[in-house]
Amino acid sequence: MQIAPSVLAADFTKLGQEIQRVSGADYLHLDIMDGHFVPNISYGPGVVAALRPLTSLPFDVHLMLDHPLEYVPAFLKAGADLITFHVECKDPIDETLAAIHNGGAKAGLVLKPATPAEALWPWLDKIDLAMVMTVEPGFGGQSFMEPMMDKVREIKKKAPSLLVEADGGINDTTIQLCAEAGVDICVAGTGVFRAENAEEALKQLQSWGND
Ligand code: DX5
Ligand code: ZN
Repeated sequence: MQIAPSVLAADFTKLGQEIQRVSGADYLHLDIMDGHFVPNISYGPGVVAALRPLTSLPFDVHLMLDHPLEYVPAFLKAGADLITFHVECKDPIDETLAAIHNGGAKAGLVLKPATPAEALWPWLDKIDLAMVMTVEPGFGGQSFMEPMMDKVREIKKKAPSLLVEADGGINDTTIQLCAEAGVDICVAGTGVFRAENAEEALKQLQSWGND
């Protein structure tokens, strides 16, 4: 299983050192919140750009914004390799996907828990990845929503070669459900950064195969 540790659960007083603890990861997941699309504010492109020289991990930037299109250029400049945004956002999806692709990054669409898999169908040939929220977006440390695995299965059935990422509440127990459903990439914030030994927790999560 590929793991994308979420910086949201890291110790913000020493982000540089925190990033070094997860150098064995597959991606670094960066949660961007605007206080409108979700009831929380995290950090912006300045922080992402500051972290960019500290690691060679691909940056997986998750935009929880009403208006992702406006901010795509800033996150491309900050060093994003993959930019995901919500199908429920207020900007035109085709234009936002094009802006990401024209900037040389991969693009993905994210589904909130209440949004059905079908919301992705119009965009299947235009996206590199689909991300299924397994918690309500906005905060780390919430409980994994197991019914979301049905959504993962539906997406994998419709588009077997599309990468599927799951985000929220993933730990050494719930990751088994993700592996069984066919998830390719798991985001883990609390499960990695709040573990006693982040390096070990990361390796443990990575050891889960996709069945
Ligand atoms: C929630 C974020 C998640 C979050 C995951 O809005 O999108 O990426 O940081 O954190 P954990 O693993 O603690 O649920
Ligand atoms: Zn996220």
